[in-house]
This record gives sequence, C-alpha cells and structure tokens, in this order.
Amino acid sequence: MSTGLPQREANPELPERVTIYEVGPRDGLQNEKTVVPAMVKVEFIRRLAAAGLETIETTSFVPPAWVPQLADATEVLSALGEEGLGLRRPVLVPNQRGLDNALAAGVGAIAIFGSATETFARKNLNRSVAESIEMFAPVVQRARESGLWVRAYVSMCFGDPWEGPVPIDQVVDVSVRLMDLGADQLSLGDTIGVGTTGHVSRLLDALDTRGVGADRIGVHFHDTYGQALANTMTALRHGVTVVDASTGGLGGCPYAKSATGNLATEDLVWALDGAGVRTGVDLAALVETSTWMAGHLGRPSPSRVVKALAGGG
Ligand code: HMG
Ligand code: MG
Repeated sequence: MSTGLPQREANPELPERVTIYEVGPRDGLQNEKTVVPAMVKVEFIRRLAAAGLETIETTSFVPPAWVPQLADATEVLSALGEEGLGLRRPVLVPNQRGLDNALAAGVGAIAIFGSATETFARKNLNRSVAESIEMFAPVVQRARESGLWVRAYVSMCFGDPWEGPVPIDQVVDVSVRLMDLGADQLSLGDTIGVGTTGHVSRLLDALDTRGVGADRIGVHFHDTYGQALANTMTALRHGVTVVDASTGGLGGCPYAKSATGNLATEDLVWALDGAGVRTGVDLAALVETSTWMAGHLGRPSPSRVVKALAGGG
C-alpha cells in the first residue's frame, strides 16, 4: 500500500536543504501548442506557491512573435499582483526592451539566457555568442542598478542538436563571461537532455577551477533521455543546492525541437523527500496541480511520480 510518500532514509551525501527553482509556468508553457489563457497561468502560479514552491519563474519578456505562448506576460503579472513579484519570481529577459517591460511590470528578478554554442545562439537569439553577450551586458548592468536579482542561463551545456558534443572549456568560457557581467547565479542548461553523470561532475569541477563554485550554480536538466534525476543527484553531491524543475514535467524549447520536458518537480521531490532533504514542497498538492493542468492541456503529465500517485498509488 502506498502512503503517497517514500519511506525516509537520510542520505548523508546530499545537502540538508534544496531550493527548487520551478520553471513550469515559463519553460513548461512556452512550448505548448495551445496558448494557455492568462488566468489559467495565474492560477497555476498560485497553486505552485500554495504547494510550497518558493521560487517560481513566471514568464518571459520576449517579442510575442518569438514566443506567442507567453505574450501575456504583463497581464499575468498584473493579475498576480505582489504574489508575482519580488526576488523569488524571476522572468526571462533577453534585451533592453524586455527589461523595460519587466521593470514596468514591477519585477524583482530577471534571467538572461545565453548559449554555449554558436548555432543555438543564432537560432534562439538571432545573433552570435559574442553578440548575445554584448546584448546582455547593459541589461545586467541596469538590472543591478535597479536592485534586481539576476540569473544567467547557459544552454546546450551537454550537447547541441546541430553541433553535437560541446567541449567543456567552451561551456566554461561562456559561463564565466556571463557571470562576469554581474549575474548572481548561473543555471547550467541541458536543453536537449543528453547529459550523463560523469559529464556533470567534469563540468562542475571545471567551473569551480575557474572560480564559479557550486554555491552560485543551479542545474537545469531536460529529461529527454531519462537522465535528469541522476544528473541532478550528481550535482547535489558536488554541493549544488539549486535545482530547476517543472511541475508535471512540462517544458522544452521552441527553438530546439529535440528538447522535451524538464525534470518533473514531483520526481525530484519524491527523490529528495525519501533521502531526507528538505524542499518545503507538499507532494500531494503538486500532483493535484499537475493533474489540474493536464486537464487544461488535454494530455497526461509525463512524470512517473504523477502517474503513480494520481492513479491512486
Ligand atoms: P530580433 O528579431 O533580432 O530582435 O530578436 P530585434 O531587436 O531586431 O527586434 C525585432 C522586433 O521585436 C522589434 O519590433 C522590436 O521592437 C521587438 P519592430 O520594430 O519590428 O516592430 N522587440 C521586442 N518586443 C517585445 N519584447 C522584447 C523585444 N525585443 C525586441 N523583449 C531577440 C532578438 C533576442 C529579441 C529574440 O531572438 C528572442 O526574444 N529570443 C528568445 C527566444 C526564447 O524565448 N526562447 C526560449 C527561452 S530560452 C530556453 O528555453 C532555454 C532555457 O530553458 C535553458 C535551457 O533549457 O537550456 C532558459
Ligand atoms: Mg529549458
């Protein structure tokens, strides 16, 4: 008989507490074929917060022509009011225009998003890696002057669908350049979910050697090849304590077709709860939220934990 929770046996190799950086409303919904109505997004974010998720990336301030699914960013934040703002409610911002709109909406945190590879930089940002870093520089500077918290994503850290393997040094170089702009946190994106555990260890070690320690790193694994949880556990053993995940395992990138859903927040919470790692998240409330969202999207969640628990255990 399932109690809906794993049996708890502490794992001393893992940190005592992990911050889950929930990306469902942004990474999850940016990739849906149908545009989810703004008020459903608002309720999704409210339910996630009520389930105990403290950090939630709410939306993106990018041109509607690039990501029509999130064209309602201002409307969503205005409907959420204070609940959608502050240091724990980041939004994606690529350029000065995006920052203007984000500041007008009253945000307290932003995330810029660079690429480790030239091909994805062109496809996702319409410019080279160097030009995209030039685009981000004044954004980070102005964001910091305005008192915002800043995260820097790096995509294609573990492989690129057009270029194949991505040298670790190349990932580290782009990461260091983005952090040198003045970002508070780096998020390592396995955009197409191809990474494996040894690769995660080597990249974290290489970043540490170049001065970006695990205390400033979050990990962002898409689960295309079923490696996201194993990779996350490896990162936690290296001292990382911030993990990106998406409730229900939604997610993907419209500019990299081979990207599928992120690590499901429920799968992560099950693993951490069992190992005695605190997250503050109520698993049952999260599963209920995924089931509710799956109803709106018209298809079941790919998360194994959601399947097991929503099915009645
Ligand atoms: P561009 O077309 O080169 O931009 O796109 P532009 O500066 O030439 O502007 C074109 C038009 O858009 C202009 O309007 C601008 O005013 C307007 P027009 O003069 O033609 O009427 N514009 C804007 N409007 C609203 N908001 C803005 C904005 N900027 C310009 N912010 C750009 C360059 C960077 C804007 C574009 O390439 C872009 O937005 N790309 C983002 C694509 C995206 O959102 N991808 C998904 C997120 S990344 C991801 O999912 C990966 C991640 O999860 C980590 C991982 O998994 O690896 C984070
Ligand atoms: Mg992503």
